[in-house]
Amino acid sequence: MRSVSVTQIKEMKQQGEKISVVTAYDSTFTKVAEEAGIDAILIGDSLGMVLQGQTTTLPVSIDDMVYHTRCVARASQRPLIIADMPFMTYGDEINAMENASELMRAGAHVVKLEGGQWLANTIALLVERGIPVCGHLGLTPQSVNQFGGFKVQGRLPEQAEAILADAIALEAAGACMIVLECIPSPLAKLITDNINIPTIGIGAGVDTDGQVLVMHDMLGLNTRAPKFVKNFMTGQTTIQAAFAAYNQAVKDKSFPAQEHGFV
Ligand code: KIV
Repeated sequence: MRSVSVTQIKEMKQQGEKISVVTAYDSTFTKVAEEAGIDAILIGDSLGMVLQGQTTTLPVSIDDMVYHTRCVARASQRPLIIADMPFMTYGDEINAMENASELMRAGAHVVKLEGGQWLANTIALLVERGIPVCGHLGLTPQSVNQFGGFKVQGRLPEQAEAILADAIALEAAGACMIVLECIPSPLAKLITDNINIPTIGIGAGVDTDGQVLVMHDMLGLNTRAPKFVKNFMTGQTTIQAAFAAYNQAVKDKSFPAQEHGFV
């Protein structure tokens, strides 16, 4: 079976095919996601919260991410594998290269970094050396202390302009896709229309090129789920059916609905 490549993900944007992404952290759920037809698996540092019981993603280490990336990569044949670089593992370029290499050796195809223009040189360096990079803008959870909580970003005009400028800078630096988290839906549309690389939304409305959800949220396991989450276990009798329903809903554009977005 041929695995989904970065090139194919970019082509999906051009062809208007929605890109389905979900988090997974182990082999069993990776197989379930793959069988459901999911295009890309994100080993998110959300594992700090949903697996380790931390209140933020900040305590997650590069060793944690390497371990879970190996678990996912062993089981995965088709989906693109994206691994998060944890807090302060890409603070400078040397640091970023060493830690990104660890994740690639563990089986990642792409590494994801949170941040805007300040990361441009780091991204260019990683890409030049053969490491595809996914950006992450908006509510970047590693900056939760700076934001004063998990809050929607980009509502003020100057914030929205800065996020758009960041997206353009990440594309220019060589990023192959960008996650947009918890930003107003019109801003996500503006960004999606103004860059050539795919945008993957979470709480970013209906117009991004793809969608991602944390697996535990998608399965209805989060009793305090944010408004952008839909419980795909509702109406299903198996976890496999819930993953398939999520994949289908992203592909046929029935998820997200307007009600899952922010203004
Ligand atoms: O860590 C994660 O799971 C993420 C998603 C919320 C996009 O970054």
